[in-house]
Amino acid sequence: VTRRDFPGDFVFGSATSAYQVEGARREGGKGDSIWDIFSGKKENIKDGCNGDIAVDQYHRFKEDVELMCILGFGAYRFSIAWTRIFPDGLGSKISEDGVAYYNSLIDFLLEKGIQPYATLYHWDLPNILHESIGGWLSENIVQYFALYAEVCFEKFGDRVKHWITINEPRQTAINGYGYGVFAPGRHQNSSVEPYLAAHYQLLAHAAAVSVYQKKFKDTQGGLIGLVVDCEWAEPFSDKLEDKLAAERWLDFQLGWYLDPIYHGEYPLSMRERVGDQLPKFSEADKELLRNSTDFIGLNHYTTKFVRHVENTGGLHFYQVQESHITAIGSDGEAVGARAASEWLYIVPWGLRKLLNYIAKRYHNPSIYITENGMDQEETETASLEELLDDQMRVDYYKTYLRAVADAIKDGVDVRGYFAWSFLDNFEWAEGYTKRFGMVYIDYKNGLTRYPKSSALWFSHFLKDGEEDCGK
Ligand code: GCO
Repeated sequence: VTRRDFPGDFVFGSATSAYQVEGARREGGKGDSIWDIFSGKKENIKDGCNGDIAVDQYHRFKEDVELMCILGFGAYRFSIAWTRIFPDGLGSKISEDGVAYYNSLIDFLLEKGIQPYATLYHWDLPNILHESIGGWLSENIVQYFALYAEVCFEKFGDRVKHWITINEPRQTAINGYGYGVFAPGRHQNSSVEPYLAAHYQLLAHAAAVSVYQKKFKDTQGGLIGLVVDCEWAEPFSDKLEDKLAAERWLDFQLGWYLDPIYHGEYPLSMRERVGDQLPKFSEADKELLRNSTDFIGLNHYTTKFVRHVENTGGLHFYQVQESHITAIGSDGEAVGARAASEWLYIVPWGLRKLLNYIAKRYHNPSIYITENGMDQEETETASLEELLDDQMRVDYYKTYLRAVADAIKDGVDVRGYFAWSFLDNFEWAEGYTKRFGMVYIDYKNGLTRYPKSSALWFSHFLKDGEEDCGK
C-alpha cells in the first residue's frame, strides 16, 4: 500500500486521549475526573497504576508534536479534559490555565502543519457531576455538557476545525455503568443504567452539536461528529439465523448510536429485546438528533464471528441476545492472529466489510477512522532494540490501510485515518501493561520516547512523494 492509493486530501494522523497521556493531575488547577477517582483504587487497575503522570504529555507536548511532524503526520486527534476547563465541573468558573494549555498545544500543532482534531469527551467526566447528579444517568448532564462544549468552541474553534463530541459512548454505557470495569465503576446488575447512560450521551452529543450549529458553524466553519466503536460481525455460517445474529451484533454496537441520528429511533432488534428498559426519544429529541453529525468517527480494531444461540440465559442484560460472539470460526481456526489484548484479532478484511456496511446502512456518510491499531505481546527480558522492532504492528497498519484504500475504491467516503496510538499510554483498566503506541515509552527511565519500527514505516509511507510538514 502506498500514500498514492489514497486521495490527495486524505488525512493521516494519530490519536490519544487526555487521561491516557497528559498526567499533571494536580497542575493548572485541574479538578478530579471519575478516572482520577476510579484509578485511585488500586484494585480497579491491573497493575495498580493510574494516570497521575501517564506519559507526561502535559509537559512534553512540544517534543511529541515535533516527532509527529518529523514522521510526517498531518493531523493529531487528542482530547480536552473537561476538568481542566471547568475545575469545579459545573462551569461556574473557566480555568485560564486549562485554556492556556490547549491553546499552546493547538498553536504548536498548527505551527508544525498538523491539524488538530479535538475530542470533547473521552471518558473523563468531572467527578463532581458523578457525585452530585449521578453523571450520565441524569438528564441534567446534557446541559452541563453543552455548556462545556460551548466554552471549547468559543476558545478553540477559531483554530480547531474538526470536533468530536463523545468518544465511544458504548464503552461508557457498558463498561462504566454495566460491568463497572471502567469509571465510574457502576455495576448494579441493573438492566437500566447502561441504556440510560447511552441515552443521555446521545442527547448530550445532540445538544453540543446544536450549540455549534447555532452559534459557531457559520463563523468558524468546522465539522462536528460522534465517534463510535464497532467490531465487524462475520456470520459464523451461511445459515440465515447466523446472519441475523451477526446483524444484531452490529445493531447493538453501531445502530444503538447511529440509528437515532440517521433514522430517529433505536434499532428494532434492540427495541424488541430490551423492551421498556430502552428509553424513548421525544419528538424534540428526535429533531435535535436528526443529522447531528457531519461525519461518522469510527474506532475499529477487530472482527469476530457471530452465531445464533437459542438459550439466552448466560448472556448479560445489555448484550446482544441470542447471539454468541466468538473469535473461533466453524473450522476451529481463530479469525486472525491475536494481539496482546485478548479481544484483539488481526482481520483487515473486516474493516473493508464494515466500511461498506456503514456506507450502505447510513447512505454513504463521510467517515473518519478515528482509531485503529494493536498492542503487541512483549517479553519481560527483551532488549530495547527488540522492543522497538514491532513488525506485527507494521503489518497491521499496512494491511488495514490496504483495506481502507480498497473500501475507498468500493465507493465508501473515507476521509481520514488515525492510528491508535501515537505513544504507549495508560490503557484504562489494563494500566500500563498494554502498549498500543508506535512510539515506545521507557516508563522506568524518565519516560523517554523511542520510535518503533511502525513509526518509521508510517513515516516512509507518508513521505512517499510528499514534502515534509511544517517549519
Ligand atoms: C477509546 C479506546 C482507547 C483505547 C484503545 C485501545 O475509547 O477510544 O478505548 O482509549 O486505548 O481502544 O484499547
